[in-house]
Amino acid sequence: MKKVILDVDTGVDDALAILYAVNSKQLDILGITAVSGNVPLEQVNINTNRIVKLLGVEDRINVYKGADRPLLKQPYHEFRVHGNDGVGGALDDIAIDFPEHDVFAPDFIIEQAKKHKGELTLIAVGPLTNVALAVRKEPRLAEWLKEVIIMGGLVQSAGRGNTIPTSEFNIYADAEAAKIVFHSGMNITLVSLDVTRQVLLTEEHIEELKGTKYYDFVKQSTVDYRQFSINLYGINGCALHDPLSVGVALDPTFVQTEKYYVDVETQSELSYGQTICDFRNILKKEPNVNICVGVDSERFLQDFLEYLKR
Ligand code: RIB
Ligand code: CA
Repeated sequence: MKKVILDVDTGVDDALAILYAVNSKQLDILGITAVSGNVPLEQVNINTNRIVKLLGVEDRINVYKGADRPLLKQPYHEFRVHGNDGVGGALDDIAIDFPEHDVFAPDFIIEQAKKHKGELTLIAVGPLTNVALAVRKEPRLAEWLKEVIIMGGLVQSAGRGNTIPTSEFNIYADAEAAKIVFHSGMNITLVSLDVTRQVLLTEEHIEELKGTKYYDFVKQSTVDYRQFSINLYGINGCALHDPLSVGVALDPTFVQTEKYYVDVETQSELSYGQTICDFRNILKKEPNVNICVGVDSERFLQDFLEYLKR
């Protein structure tokens, strides 16, 4: 089984990604690391531990807290999409009666990458603060990690950001961290809004889960998210940004990729957090990121729903 660490800022789609990763039974999840993002770190930690308990795997999957703020800028949260607690209030009745694990998330990533050199896939679906701290502390992390699958950015759909026109939330929340990671030498696949927005979980899809264990959670947790989509895009569905990133770890053929030089804007107020892809190699720089140029959304959605029905 593929060894993975999930780095999350549990919010709704992070929670769905964790459900999908565990229920696939195809990933050896060494641990989950939490980072400030959609909601503050403490809430991310609570949400992530509650999902782990909902899955009944709290005795074998630990959650490790990481950065409680970006490297330089002030924290930026996304309550509009994920609700005040990050999961639309859908986990309120799950008590967390087990101890926290006091290894700092970046240290856990380094430790596991060193222990499993060349075998570990890091799936980062929140701001990249933990990953940047880890590779700054231990630059060899870039060669120890087999691959890093990052949910973030937009490279072809210019102007269609979900925070400011040029930028996607995970990158915008800590562009300095993203810049460090993109220039670290890691084997990066960037699962950007260009493809994740094509993977929409609709009400019809949710109703397919009726009678299964996670139906109530999926339906309740996505209410705010779907309303946000209706208001912004006129679509009653939520984009499965983070689950698709897990999907790429399970089956890389869900997406088509090409490698280019990608950099991150950190100076401009107008375009802070923009992921800039040099498609024509004008800058003559070494390609550093595998970007996604296509997605087999129907096949992925069926896979996702199949595993959630288990
Ligand atoms: O832009 C979407 C990304 O930002 C997703 O990972 C979502 O969970 C938020 O972290
Ligand atoms: Ca996320």
